[in-house]
Amino acid sequence: MSDVIFEPLVFRNLTVKNRVFRSNISGRFDNYDGSGTQARINWEVKFARGGVGAIISSFCPVHPRGRIMPNYATIDRDERIPFWRAVGDAVHAHDCKFILQLSHGGRQRDVPDIAHPKGESSTDKKDPLHGFECDRMTLADIREVVSAFAEGARRAREAGLDGVELHGANGYLITQFLSSGINDRTDEYGGTLENRARFVLEIVRAIRAKVGRDFHLQMKISAVDHNNALLFLRLERPGNTLAESVQVCKWLVEAGVDAIHVSTGSAFPHPRNPAGADLDVKVLANTYEQLASSGANTFRNLLLFHNNLTAELFRKQWLDACPPKDQIEGLTLPDARGIKQAVPVPVICTGGFQTASVIRKAILDGDCDAVSMARPLVANNDLVKQFAAGKDRADKPCTYCNKCLVHVVEHPIGCYEESRYPSTDAMYQEIMSVFVPSAFS
Ligand SMILES: Cc1cc2nc3c(=O)[nH]c(=O)nc-3n(C[C@H](O)[C@H](O)[C@H](O)COP(=O)(O)O)c2cc1C
Ligand code: SF4
Repeated sequence: MSDVIFEPLVFRNLTVKNRVFRSNISGRFDNYDGSGTQARINWEVKFARGGVGAIISSFCPVHPRGRIMPNYATIDRDERIPFWRAVGDAVHAHDCKFILQLSHGGRQRDVPDIAHPKGESSTDKKDPLHGFECDRMTLADIREVVSAFAEGARRAREAGLDGVELHGANGYLITQFLSSGINDRTDEYGGTLENRARFVLEIVRAIRAKVGRDFHLQMKISAVDHNNALLFLRLERPGNTLAESVQVCKWLVEAGVDAIHVSTGSAFPHPRNPAGADLDVKVLANTYEQLASSGANTFRNLLLFHNNLTAELFRKQWLDACPPKDQIEGLTLPDARGIKQAVPVPVICTGGFQTASVIRKAILDGDCDAVSMARPLVANNDLVKQFAAGKDRADKPCTYCNKCLVHVVEHPIGCYEESRYPSTDAMYQEIMSVFVPSAFS
């Protein structure tokens, strides 16, 4: 009997061989200046070999001021095109598509680039968690960034990649315009939903004007902001509702978007994304040192994470805002369903997926057309091949412990859940494998 997971997904300008996408996963693989390395190619090839239909890249800045961390490869200049072509070629060799995530961090960053210490945003208010400072963008700034997204799409096309995704989710610049919890402008880019959506719609139109109608363009959106989910953010406004995001998605499709990738939460990380079963505050206390001089609140936060009592309080209120472990898989499906019912293009849903029967049901029930996975594939790179062989779930599934997440600002991305490995050495060997030049081909 045919399995819907392995049916091709046909977009307007792209066909993907199955319904599992590797979701975006940032990692510090590249050079400080944003030029790419073989380690990133090795990383992406791991997933292409593991059977996913398409890889959606990690956060890829379209503008130097939009970087959130050094060592993430960028698409902000033509000289990056050969690197992305090499990534695309390596992934294509495994019959897998590659979609580049065009991104700008705005005021939300981790370790700012030395040349651009201050972010830019829809607002001039610091982000409430880390206190990263930003300038309110002028109309000229907006025009410059809109054009940078369009140039990023052109470069992706010239690199032979299969499409681009706008990072319009999780608190980065596009969210900072869309979200009623963040955008406090009084000009034509703030206030009503129509005004808040103007920035992203201008980006879509600029991309279409630059690359034409026959290049795949999708948008990752936080369907619900949950902007005041944490106890100490209760005074913040809640942000966008599902009904508002449904309307934005309709406008996006009218403007030329070919698919919607549904996420959640107006910040990254957020208790609902990636939703975790635990928060390792000890590791957080160590890795957060990287951020200590970046934002107005970061030194305070570092002290808070180092003190047992306050660290435990932070951990508790974070976990209180997380869904229970048995509700993490498919957490955003109700939102995806709401969007899918309203738009005529395919909908991809992210959040906790790692069980074939759950994915199959989501697609057959009409909640989404495909799923994207990040952590479960970091834990089991070949999960899709396992599904194809008839397995419903990996023997050692992702535990949603989020250790990969708390390590990522300082250490190489990988699965840090020791219980999943025969030994600590085996864990580090697996994490370091991307640095061996000949490890993957
Ligand atoms: C370490 C890490 C890095 C991530 N980096 C990105 C990113 O660069 N861009 C993005 O849109 N989402 C990013 N995400 C979110 C994932 O793409 C995904 O949507 C989220 O983790 C939920 O899916 P999962 O439960 O399958 O991990 C990241 C998640 C993790 C854990
Ligand atoms: S560290 Fe491993 S088990 Fe834990 S969330 Fe990340 S991938 Fe999953």
